[in-house]
Amino acid sequence: MELICRLAQFAVLFLFARVVNSQDNFTQPIVWQDLADIDLIRVNETFYYSASNMHFSPSAPLLRSWDLVNWEFLTHSLPALDQDYPKFDLEGASAYNQGVYASSIGYHSQRGLYYWVGCLQGTGQTYIYAAREPQGPWEEASVISDYCYYDDGLLIDDDGTMYVAYGKWVPNGADAKIWVARLTDDLQHDVGEEVFQSNEEIQYIEGARFYKINGTYYIWLVNHHSEIGKGQIILKSSGGPFGPYDSWRRVLGSSGNPIPGASSPLQGGIVDTPNGDWWYIAFVDMWPAGRYPVLAPITWDDDGWPSVVFDGENNWGSSYPYPLAKHETKPLARKDDFTELGPQYEWNHNPDNSKWSLDEGLKLQTATVTDDFFLARNTLTHRILGPNSTLTIELDYSSMESGDMAGLALFRYNADLISVTKQENGTSLQMIHNITMDATDGWHTINKGEAVASTPLNGSRAWLRAQAINSGNQVTGTFSYSTDGVEFSPFGEMHNSLNGAVYFLGTRYGIFNYASKELGGSVTIKSLEITQGE
Ligand SMILES: *[C@@H]1O[C@H](CO)[C@@H](O)[C@H](O)[C@H]1NC(C)=O
Ligand SMILES: *[C@@H]1O[C@H](CO)[C@@H](O)[C@H](O)[C@H]1NC(C)=O
Ligand SMILES: *[C@@H]1O[C@H](CO)[C@@H](O)[C@H](O)[C@H]1NC(C)=O
Ligand SMILES: *[C@@H]1O[C@H](CO)[C@@H](O)[C@H](O)[C@H]1NC(C)=O
Ligand SMILES: *[C@@H]1O[C@H](CO)[C@@H](O)[C@H](O)[C@H]1NC(C)=O
Ligand SMILES: *[C@@H]1O[C@H](CO)[C@@H](O)[C@H](O)[C@H]1NC(C)=O
Ligand SMILES: *[C@@H]1O[C@H](CO)[C@@H](O)[C@H](O)[C@H]1NC(C)=O
Repeated sequence: MELICRLAQFAVLFLFARVVNSQDNFTQPIVWQDLADIDLIRVNETFYYSASNMHFSPSAPLLRSWDLVNWEFLTHSLPALDQDYPKFDLEGASAYNQGVYASSIGYHSQRGLYYWVGCLQGTGQTYIYAAREPQGPWEEASVISDYCYYDDGLLIDDDGTMYVAYGKWVPNGADAKIWVARLTDDLQHDVGEEVFQSNEEIQYIEGARFYKINGTYYIWLVNHHSEIGKGQIILKSSGGPFGPYDSWRRVLGSSGNPIPGASSPLQGGIVDTPNGDWWYIAFVDMWPAGRYPVLAPITWDDDGWPSVVFDGENNWGSSYPYPLAKHETKPLARKDDFTELGPQYEWNHNPDNSKWSLDEGLKLQTATVTDDFFLARNTLTHRILGPNSTLTIELDYSSMESGDMAGLALFRYNADLISVTKQENGTSLQMIHNITMDATDGWHTINKGEAVASTPLNGSRAWLRAQAINSGNQVTGTFSYSTDGVEFSPFGEMHNSLNGAVYFLGTRYGIFNYASKELGGSVTIKSLEITQGE
């Protein structure tokens, strides 16, 4: 009898746990957007997530969460890519695929300052930005001109000393090296040492994250070689921050596909909660849509090595119980009337800030005279959401000048767009198909595209819509338009994002206005609405 009672008690507890779990589970990815090269910190109750965004500006997006699952865009750690490198301004030359790579954030409690540290690809220099409040203002605090701390991880030690672990881009795996540098109080390179050299067993490593946990220094690196086992290689020091790093493990390894159609998780950062639990956010490759974050709990063994809590099949789960009480954040898919330009947007390269304003909508003056979408300044972008999403703009085109093109694009290193095109003889809606950049030699435009559809437009307002469909290994898109905001007609041909090259970003929506004859015209985006489909 007693046994039966106990069994019944167990069953009730078990069921109760199941019910609580299933109500409070989250599913992967935690954010359906391309936010790679995660660095993760917690300051008191708040978590911060920093990501790379290459040639988009402002740069190094910073997100905020209170439960590790729901994230909102907070700001960017770099207000612009204005680091004395003219290509970032898209003035006749471009810096596609350069700019912000894996970089790092930290909170310096003694100084009360948040720091961002990263090497900007193209400049070959390391930049440090600092802010008193995470939402900014972020300001340049130092330029370390002789060092590119490639894929760096920042560690702020208990005594406030700052260290950076970093790599160097080398073509061949087994001789990859990792360095540690100590910074001076005024944020310059003080001492640097090579602390680890890879080997045949480990192969190529990069993407350092640098932690001190229970007094032990760890460097977390990524290995992309799937034949050996993608995932994190973790170095452990038996001494101080400079090592010796005399033990390593391949842990938090990738196993399983928490997002169907995407790769296994490979690279990320860890953080503890106020309760003392540890969690890991890694990204999965889902090209050409980009790299998407997945979250899993980790546990530590008695020797101080971590491992991911896998599901029953010994894989990364596609669902886990919430780490902490659910805490809603600003929705990522929403309607925007442009009372402000939110941190969910980024410009393609640095904008010309004299050519846009908020005035009953987002007013875009033409900023470039060009016939090349990829060289036009002031294209405002938004990441596609997943798996499917639409973006609709309401466009007032009454102030365009002859020769201007304004509208909506889907692009990676190839673009398709629909454009309100003003010419001497009137205004039309056009679809320009197959605008393409060269993927092997400098990312310059090799095909300016061709008009594959055209229809005359009357009046002064049109609604343009793009739908992006991310099927895991393909991103396609369709376009439509409306003259009343209610009835939409499909228009032009399908977009299909190219995926044949090392271009580190996923497909984006782009809203553009450029001139082919002379500057002076403008359009106003009265509203923008994003919807996210399951
Ligand atoms: C974190 O919490 C402590 C204790 O409440 C407080 O003194 C400190 O100001 C907080 N730090 C930040 C950055 O909010
Ligand atoms: C740190 O040490 C404490 C006390 O020994 C232990 O309870 C805890 O699990 C350790 N944490 C990690 C992350 O190893
Ligand atoms: C919730 O997550 C747990 C742990 O990963 C898993 O075992 C369970 O199946 C999930 N529940 C649901 C309803 O997905
Ligand atoms: C204006 O002329 C161009 C070139 O002949 C033509 O392609 C376009 O359709 C015309 N636009 C309108 C609105 O008639
Ligand atoms: C698109 O442009 C590229 C580069 O010029 C070309 O190789 C390809 O054939 C074009 N595709 C179509 C469908 O026109
Ligand atoms: C624009 O006006 C012309 C002439 O009145 C008409 O033929 C055409 O259908 C209208 N086009 C649109 C898109 O409303
Ligand atoms: C995304 O859209 C496509 C095309 O409309 C549809 O076939 C597919 O079922 C959608 N995917 C999801 C996950 O809803």
